[in-house]
Amino acid sequence: MPKFDSLYSKNALSMKKSVIRELLKLTTQPDIISFAGGLPAPETFPVEDLRVAADAVFTKHAAKALQYGTTEGDNDLKAELVKYEARQGVTLTPENLLIVSASQQALDMLPKLFLDPGDYVIAGRPTYVGTIQAIQSYQGKVLGIPFSTDNDGFDMVELEKRYARAVRDGKKVKYVYVIPDFQNPSGICWSLEKRKAILKFAYDHDLPLVEDAPYREVRFMGETLPSIYQLDQQGENRGIVINMKTFSKILVPGARVGWVMAHPEFIQKLVIAKQAMDLCTNVFAQKWLAEYLKTGKLYAVIENTCKLYRDKRNHMVAMLEKYMPKRYDLTWTKPEGGLFLWISLPKYIDTDQMIFKAVERKVAYVVGSAFYFDEPEHNAMRINFSYSGFEQIEEGVKRLAEVVKAEIEAHEAGPRGRTAPEGM
Ligand SMILES: Cc1ncc(COP(=O)(O)O)c(C=O)c1O
Repeated sequence: MPKFDSLYSKNALSMKKSVIRELLKLTTQPDIISFAGGLPAPETFPVEDLRVAADAVFTKHAAKALQYGTTEGDNDLKAELVKYEARQGVTLTPENLLIVSASQQALDMLPKLFLDPGDYVIAGRPTYVGTIQAIQSYQGKVLGIPFSTDNDGFDMVELEKRYARAVRDGKKVKYVYVIPDFQNPSGICWSLEKRKAILKFAYDHDLPLVEDAPYREVRFMGETLPSIYQLDQQGENRGIVINMKTFSKILVPGARVGWVMAHPEFIQKLVIAKQAMDLCTNVFAQKWLAEYLKTGKLYAVIENTCKLYRDKRNHMVAMLEKYMPKRYDLTWTKPEGGLFLWISLPKYIDTDQMIFKAVERKVAYVVGSAFYFDEPEHNAMRINFSYSGFEQIEEGVKRLAEVVKAEIEAHEAGPRGRTAPEGM
């Protein structure tokens, strides 16, 4: 093992492993039912149509598809995305678009562009772990904002309070990060009122507003609300919203292709950040997706995916109702879209400890504490309903409920009834 420890940069030293990726390794054990990952259901992948699209790239565009491309992204794909977004009421020109190596790359570009060590990003408590990781790797920090009890977005009073305090303490807050549609991990969808309120907050304080929207189209119930990017477009059009989308949850995550929508001047800043990362997004993948989009079949894929996820979500909720102990301090979200449920457990249950017992019982979840930059809550967990089959959902929830019940019973039996945590 080379001894590089004393040589690593401060940025590298502040990087943290993703708890989820580590957990995913555990879940490769045979027989385990994993609700841990955020994997789409593979049965939604339109394999044959994607194969035909790939063949078309080889026959029609091989020379271009196998060559370097521009950092901004492939023009054919951009043209298709302009049409795709227009169907959702978003007006774009190709200059508003940057094609990225999926959203995670864009999440890494933002702190690269905005943060000096010690600078802050406003984000939810909890929020997406990949965003926390990206911020940490540039020595940035998160000014965490709790969600309101109505689960309709940030607690705006807390936001104003915490922001004012941060400014008073000399902290530099550089941008706001939100996931308004079916947040990862909580499944929360922001109300129209809260979308407008956060846009106003960003206007009032001259802050860029990053809208991460990988689950936007994965709505299987209720009415679609305008994105914050759209609200800005339809309103004052100040161009401060940076919207991030991806093919990962609506088509295939393996393509590793996403897109950023923003003001053309900001797109050019992103282009510079991206050049040092990868010169350009995988050109073949861009041409391939452009060919596929031309068939117009993506809309039906999204519709079927939403139907499947609605059924799986309903099944998971029904199984939780069937197997979990019925208590006021044991609740779960019932999202209208996305891939996840968020379960809150009695305060004394530490899901970081309980995960080992769950894995022993052959079921896995993501510990809630992974989604906090600091002062984590320990009595929550994220569970995924898109990947497992219906039978696995029932069996997995049943196992999870047994583990939770055992924790509650051990607590209620008092200290003598508790077993020491297993040393895993
Ligand atoms: C909120 C959020 N943003 C971004 C990503 C990254 O997605 P990708 O890089 O696959 O586009 C994910 C993945 O799960 C996510 O949940």
